[in-house]
Amino acid sequence: MSALDGRRILVTGAAQGLGAEIASQCVAAGARVLLGDVQDDVAAEVAASLGAAASWVRLDVTREPDWRAALAEADARFGGVDGLVNNAGVLHMGPIVEIGADDVTRLLAVNLAGPTFGIKHVAPRIRDSGGGSIVNIASIDGVLGMNSVALYSATKWGVRGLSRSAALELGQWGVRVNTVCPSMGNPEMSAPFFDAIDVDRYLRHVPSPVLAGAGVTAATVAPAVVFLLSDAAATITGTDVVVDAGWTAGHFLPGLPGF
Ligand SMILES: NC(=O)c1ccc[n+]([C@@H]2O[C@H](COP(=O)([O-])OP(=O)(O)OC[C@H]3O[C@@H](n4cnc5c(N)ncnc54)[C@H](O)[C@@H]3O)[C@@H](O)[C@H]2O)c1
Repeated sequence: MSALDGRRILVTGAAQGLGAEIASQCVAAGARVLLGDVQDDVAAEVAASLGAAASWVRLDVTREPDWRAALAEADARFGGVDGLVNNAGVLHMGPIVEIGADDVTRLLAVNLAGPTFGIKHVAPRIRDSGGGSIVNIASIDGVLGMNSVALYSATKWGVRGLSRSAALELGQWGVRVNTVCPSMGNPEMSAPFFDAIDVDRYLRHVPSPVLAGAGVTAATVAPAVVFLLSDAAATITGTDVVVDAGWTAGHFLPGLPGF
C-alpha cells in the first residue's frame, strides 16, 4: 500500500515549480490530485501529464468564489477532499524603504489571505471526510530574516502563525495542520529569484549547508509534504518541518577547536 492511497488532495500553485512536484509525488504515492492555479493552460498540461489520477481547476487563491468552485470540482471528480497543500506564493525583492502599497496588497493577498481562505473553505470538508491533513508552504524566510525580502519574510512568518493557530482550532475535527519551510539556493527551484540577483556574489555568501553537497530542490522538499499528508504523520500537527540542508541550524565557525 502506498502512503496516500485513496486520498483526494488539492494543491495550489501547482502549474509549475514546487507545486507541480508536490502534485506529481502525491500521485506517485497513490493520491488523486486536483491542481489549482491561475495559469490555466500550464496547469492543464501538468495535470494531463500525471494521468487519470490528476485533474485541474482555475483557482486564484485570493478569491473565495474560486475556492468554492474548486471544492465543487473536487466533489465532481473525486467525491470530496481529504488534504490541502497551500503552496501558491509570490516573491517580492527590494529594500524595505522602497516597498509599495501594491506590493503589500499583492503579497498579503496571495501568501496570507490565500492559505487563510484555503483553510476556511477546505477544513470543514476534510472534517466531513473523516479528518485529514493541511500543509502550508512557508520558507526559511519564515524562520529567519533576510535583506531584500522583508515583505515576503513577514508573510511567511505569518503562514507559520496561521498554521499553528489552525492546528489548535481544527484538531477537534481530526484535521492536522503543519508547515513546510524550504530553503533556496538551488537555481532549479528559484529561477525568478536567481534572475533578479547577482548570482556569483550571492552564492559566495550562502552559508555551507550542514549536509555537505546537499542541494535543496523541489524533488527533496516534496517528500516532506507527502509525509505530512500521510497517516505516518498522524500524531504530528501544529509544527514546522524545515527542509534546508541545515541552513538555519545555527552558525558554523571555521577555526574553532576541531574544525
Ligand atoms: N523557490 C524557492 O526557492 C522557494 C523557497 C522557499 C519557499 N518557497 C515557496 O514555495 C512555494 C512555491 O514556490 P515556487 O518556487 O514553486 O514558485 P513558482 O513561482 O515557480 O510557482 C508558483 C505558482 O503559484 C501560482 N500562483 C501565483 N499566484 C497565484 C494565485 N493567486 N492563485 C493560485 N496560484 C497562484 C503561479 O502561477 C505558479 O504556478 C511558494 O509558496 C514559495 O514562497 C519557494
